[in-house]
Amino acid sequence: MKVDVLLGLQWGDEGKGKVVDVLTPRYDVISRFQGGPNAGHTLEFEGQKFVLRSIPSGIFQGDKVNVIGNGVVLDPALFKEEVEALEKSGHPLTERLKISKKAHLILPTHRLLDKAYETAKGTGKIGTTGKGIGPTYTDKVSRNGLRVGDILHNFEEKYSAAIQRHLDILKHYDLEYNLPELEKEWFAGIEKLKQFEFIDSEVFINSVLKAEKPILAEGAQGTMLDIDFGSYPFVTSSNTVCAGACTGLGVAPRNIGNVYGIFKAYCTRVGSGPFPTELLDADGDLMRKNGNEFGSVTGRPRRCGWIDLVALKYAIMINGVNRLIMMKSDVLSDFDTIKACVAYKIDGKETETFPFDLNNGAEPVFVELDGWKTDLTGIKTEDEFPEELNAYISFLEEELEVPITIVSVGPDRDQTIVRYQD
Ligand code: GDP
Ligand code: IMO
Ligand code: MG
Repeated sequence: MKVDVLLGLQWGDEGKGKVVDVLTPRYDVISRFQGGPNAGHTLEFEGQKFVLRSIPSGIFQGDKVNVIGNGVVLDPALFKEEVEALEKSGHPLTERLKISKKAHLILPTHRLLDKAYETAKGTGKIGTTGKGIGPTYTDKVSRNGLRVGDILHNFEEKYSAAIQRHLDILKHYDLEYNLPELEKEWFAGIEKLKQFEFIDSEVFINSVLKAEKPILAEGAQGTMLDIDFGSYPFVTSSNTVCAGACTGLGVAPRNIGNVYGIFKAYCTRVGSGPFPTELLDADGDLMRKNGNEFGSVTGRPRRCGWIDLVALKYAIMINGVNRLIMMKSDVLSDFDTIKACVAYKIDGKETETFPFDLNNGAEPVFVELDGWKTDLTGIKTEDEFPEELNAYISFLEEELEVPITIVSVGPDRDQTIVRYQD
């Protein structure tokens, strides 16, 4: 038995939450391995809609065990909000969710530092979600972080020392803040957190594997936001790629099974940074409108553009993707023509290789395919796919050399067409 990994191949918001929920019945354990409340994973079923930030998307499908792994960064205040909203809607979590003792805590001052650093960058800002993600991972790597397991021993002392360090840094920035107020909700969050079981998640995950039970690892963000392989510096601060599941859960590489790569039939991005296929015209506006492309966490309008196969091939290579999942096909139903970027023109030269730095300008080279001009949202089987959609799928499978196993035709759990079942 191996750990299957589901991860985003673009700049995030591909629809990971929806598909993890759809795949959950096949697994015993669902776990998050990186990122934090910068994520917003949306699920819709039975007329209800939920947005998850730090909690794995397996919590709605029966008695599965959900794990927040060591690679995740956790904000107790936001975690409390998230848990309470779920409890209110009839989804108690304390029995179903376990948290790694080694997951790092986002302190109230991490959020302040995130804001201060972004403001200081001026026009060069990353456009972060403002959740303190960068500063928390920085503290982890510089060996100054606080972990969930620290809550159990001399916590106040460790907390005070960490906060003092941050306050000393913040003196150099012109930022107004009310720390006692932030601390009040943060410590209330710590109390909420204590209601959950803190575990050595690497030991737990490996014992589940030994017992021959299947595990799904749920990625956050996307490959183009990976700290090593994304469009640096306009990235997040964790390894969003498949290897992140090994370090973020304590799983040996040889225990990784299927790698599900998920992408939209087009492409979106939130925040700053290069986006070669971006559409700043009416087509982009139509994608945003039809796809309801507004951030689940910050409400920011998402930048929209055509699918980028240069970036997708690169993402498939880095992650070892062997199953593709195409989302939001229905969003393209109004277009007469669908474009796909098959190469970049850089300094007048055409290349299919993903460059070192996208920031130097990469002009997309497109091929055009016929649009399907058909509402897909009521489709129940693959047989009902319009001819042009089949042609688009075949074109992508040929270019990407990986089968598209699932096609999503709407936000609801039921609007999911499984083409090949493992
Ligand atoms: P995640 O961060 O990868 O989980 O994705 P988000 O939840 O941030 O963004 C995906 C958005 O698209 C959510 O609002 C989903 O409800 C919605 N969605 C998912 N799949 C589909 C689909 O096939 N069609 C449409 N129209 N919406 C979808
Ligand atoms: P999910 O899991 C889309 C983007 C931010 C910003 C950059 C760095 O829902 O796909 P950060 O707060 O992480 O330091 O911001 O990364 N970003 C996301 N974009 N979806 C996400 O998560 C994102 N998480 C971070 O917009 O550009
Ligand atoms: Mg999202």
